[in-house]
Amino acid sequence: MTATLSLSFQKASSTIEYPCVVTASSGEDGIILSAAAQTADAEGEGALSRAATEAEFKAKSGSSLVVRGAKGTVILIGSDADLDAGKDAETLGGKIFSAMSGAGLSSANLYLDADEEVLADLAHGAHLASYVFKDYFTKGEQAKIKEKSLAIYADAASDAEKAYGARAELAEGVFLARDLITEPANKLYPESYAERCEKLAETGLKITVLDEDAMRKEGMHLLLSVGQGSRRASRMVVMEWQGGAKDEAPIALIGKGVCFDTGGISIKPAGGMEDMKWDMGGSAAVVGAMRAIAGRKTKRNVVGLVGLVENMPDGEATRPGDVVTSMSGQTVEIINTDAEGRLVLADVLTYAQTYYKPSKMINLATLTGAILVSLGKEYAGLFSNNDDLSQAIMDAGAATNEKSWRMPMGKAYDDMLKSHIADMKNIGGRLAGSITAACFLERFVDDVPWAHLDIAGMAWADKSSPTVPKGGTGYGVKMLTKLVETDRD
Ligand code: BES
Ligand code: MN
Ligand code: ZN
Repeated sequence: MTATLSLSFQKASSTIEYPCVVTASSGEDGIILSAAAQTADAEGEGALSRAATEAEFKAKSGSSLVVRGAKGTVILIGSDADLDAGKDAETLGGKIFSAMSGAGLSSANLYLDADEEVLADLAHGAHLASYVFKDYFTKGEQAKIKEKSLAIYADAASDAEKAYGARAELAEGVFLARDLITEPANKLYPESYAERCEKLAETGLKITVLDEDAMRKEGMHLLLSVGQGSRRASRMVVMEWQGGAKDEAPIALIGKGVCFDTGGISIKPAGGMEDMKWDMGGSAAVVGAMRAIAGRKTKRNVVGLVGLVENMPDGEATRPGDVVTSMSGQTVEIINTDAEGRLVLADVLTYAQTYYKPSKMINLATLTGAILVSLGKEYAGLFSNNDDLSQAIMDAGAATNEKSWRMPMGKAYDDMLKSHIADMKNIGGRLAGSITAACFLERFVDDVPWAHLDIAGMAWADKSSPTVPKGGTGYGVKMLTKLVETDRD
């Protein structure tokens, strides 16, 4: 993992050093140059305003224009006069980073008159945009890490620098999640994944790893049934953060960590199967969020639990039709071994409730292809037994640009899981696949507010957006961190 941008915050000055990034906003009769942009324009003998006119530059937020003047390169970037802190400022930061890259600049000075929250969010957005994963290139341009630096000049610089500290911790969590998602399955498998989690003890998290024997003792046969066809042993990792009062019930964050999903005996088609290395995206969101929460010293109790398995088809693998007893005692007829994520999550949900009595539980999983059909790559599917928790998740998602959309549940869907031979089947049939998957999980939830996010559409980006480069997104880290920090009961 590498963040390729180093940031600094500097006291505002009336002089400009080049290369620079200056802003303009759109007014009623044309664009309005900021004071710094006017200085750059004057020093360049009007080159900036001439170029803006020629290009019919409208100063829409994030749009940019590069001018190579006598004194140096100037990037003029559109910014709303009343730019808000939060995701809009982050997006602008991401666009500034890509404008720098586009102009071939390895360093730049940004002059922006804004408050510390806006500046810190903007810096955070630029930092998030600068992530690259180059561990496996050995030669040529691709192997080179091109470091960039951005100095932000503003009156509020020193307050912005302070405010930025907590964002940097959040970014560490996002980058960790992106790394885990991007790693191929021959490098990241349950044991190596658990070892990487153990390293997080440095941040103040208490880490416990359960091996197969320990899970067998707990009766976690559903989780174990998924991993039993693999040469790789399964693991569960528990990460505890004690930031709140001793007696405060923790919030439980639970993640699906299928390090590779071949489908098992119900094997998937070959085309695109490589994508199933990121079938641990839910667990990555949880691990990343725990890293961020610890780094930020969040004043709440939180427990993160991830079930780590590999779904492979060998002679020990689960057969379609096998009946397996869960940790909860309920039995499951496994009709399709490719519906494995819910089996892993079911036992982790039971474990979380048994040992942590959480105030609420949120699980994340790349659970169904069907959620991509429903919601595409804009929203995660949200399924919950609780309106307040749902609203809080949607609000935290809207604020962090990690959006979710609530889907229906209910008895009619749940009935689709009836089995002739066991308490339930692991699939519902052709219709409403994401919903029946959620209903399956709900059968393992006791009387506690619970939400399930199906992030199959969100964990991986096929194209870059301002603060999320193409590849593993780290979706969920920002939303979960926000949710935990705004949780008030
Ligand atoms: N990991 C997949 C879901 C998935 C699909 C994630 C595409 C990311 C992108 C999951 O384990 C799975 O295979 N689900 C099946 C369920 C079916 C057998 C009921 C699916 O979606 O086809
Ligand atoms: Mn599967
Ligand atoms: Zn899967």
